[in-house]
Amino acid sequence: MKISNAEYARRRRKLMAMMAPDSIAIIPAAQEKLRSRDTEYPFRQDSDFYYLSGFCEPGAVLVLIPGRAHGEFVMFCRERDPATELWHGSRAGPDGACDHFGADDAFPVTDVDEILPGLIEGRDRVYYSMGRSAEFDRQIMGWVNSIRSKESSGASPPGEFTDLDHMLHDMRLIKSAAEQKLLRRAGEITASAHRHIMRYCQPGMFEYELEGELHHQFVRGGARYPAYLSIVGSGVNACTLHYVENSSKMRAGDLVLVDAGCEFEYYAADVTRTFPVNGRFNAEQRAIYELVLAAHGAAIAEIRAGNHWNQPHDASVRVITAGLVKLGLLEGEVDELVEAQAYQPFYMHRLGHWLGLDVHDVGDYRVGDEWRLLEAGMVMTVEPGIYIAPGNTDVARKWRGIGVRIEDDVLVTASGCEVLTADAPRTIEEIEATMAA
Ligand code: GLY
Ligand code: MN
Ligand code: MN
Repeated sequence: MKISNAEYARRRRKLMAMMAPDSIAIIPAAQEKLRSRDTEYPFRQDSDFYYLSGFCEPGAVLVLIPGRAHGEFVMFCRERDPATELWHGSRAGPDGACDHFGADDAFPVTDVDEILPGLIEGRDRVYYSMGRSAEFDRQIMGWVNSIRSKESSGASPPGEFTDLDHMLHDMRLIKSAAEQKLLRRAGEITASAHRHIMRYCQPGMFEYELEGELHHQFVRGGARYPAYLSIVGSGVNACTLHYVENSSKMRAGDLVLVDAGCEFEYYAADVTRTFPVNGRFNAEQRAIYELVLAAHGAAIAEIRAGNHWNQPHDASVRVITAGLVKLGLLEGEVDELVEAQAYQPFYMHRLGHWLGLDVHDVGDYRVGDEWRLLEAGMVMTVEPGIYIAPGNTDVARKWRGIGVRIEDDVLVTASGCEVLTADAPRTIEEIEATMAA
């Protein structure tokens, strides 16, 4: 279950077809990052680089040169070296980049300063992702300046620099059938891990024990890494949106909010479930939970091709505001409260975001002055929440410190949507039954 070489080639062709005549695109691989002293973070390839190549080594530069007679896809990568490979594992090398990754031409990355200016020379326009890495920006300017220095001998430097992100990220926004499969699998593994930890959870455990158990389930499902830092927040910790300490002991009577998703073949899942540590919701937890669940349902009902990006968000805001009034947490007319954004102290984030190779995936949310229209093949999260700050003295004490979010991953289809993470128990009945089993 992987993206085929044919699909990578299609992506490169599609991008090249959108590029201006006589242009070149340059995309660097991610760099290895030090965690401490001489130990590194696990290496993760840059998503744009990976999307166009499937090549997962650091120290590489991918170059697309539409119309180049000696080949349009050029790769610079680390040379093979038996002594180094003995310690650090095998490398494709330039020959492997051609034989296994479809490069037309490949060179050792140590020669990039010598060779790349010659490939840029004579091209009118350079596409690259500007401002993402100061070092890469400097490198690009170095290559261009080396051409400028030879202008008197007839060299012709490019006159235009264009951000690559817009074109490339618009492609990444619409997921192919093969990408949908991988996202579906990431969703299944993640949903089943959430189900598992609902059974595993016991009062007195530490939050990180749920985190560890969840990650173990990801690995057992074939997904080595989580797609982002997992959040396991019990009690008032659930009200800190990006709580990642995961270090408190979980108490009976509290809820625990778990926001965690695996990365499967580079594609992310992003799921949140909130459940009672002891398996039973109390009255206030139940009321808030039902309200978030209703907002989640209202949002999902607005997801279909042709609706705009903001429609599901608006639906969730309405439901949450009306519900908060009903529970006595807000006072006033629902329309006016929505207009005044009175829900903000309780629901302070957007309904969701695009999902794909990155958990907060690329792609514009607006086109000009308008919200983007949803299209079949887009994948987004739906994650309404209500968080009642422990210090919120405007509400009765019994509500304070309750935090609930329900998050699923959703594929937009022509007629509606497909929830990719539906196997994670979501209703109160499902959760209580799962935890009792
Ligand atoms: N887990 C990050 C998010 O929900 O956006
Ligand atoms: Mn999340
Ligand atoms: Mn999310």
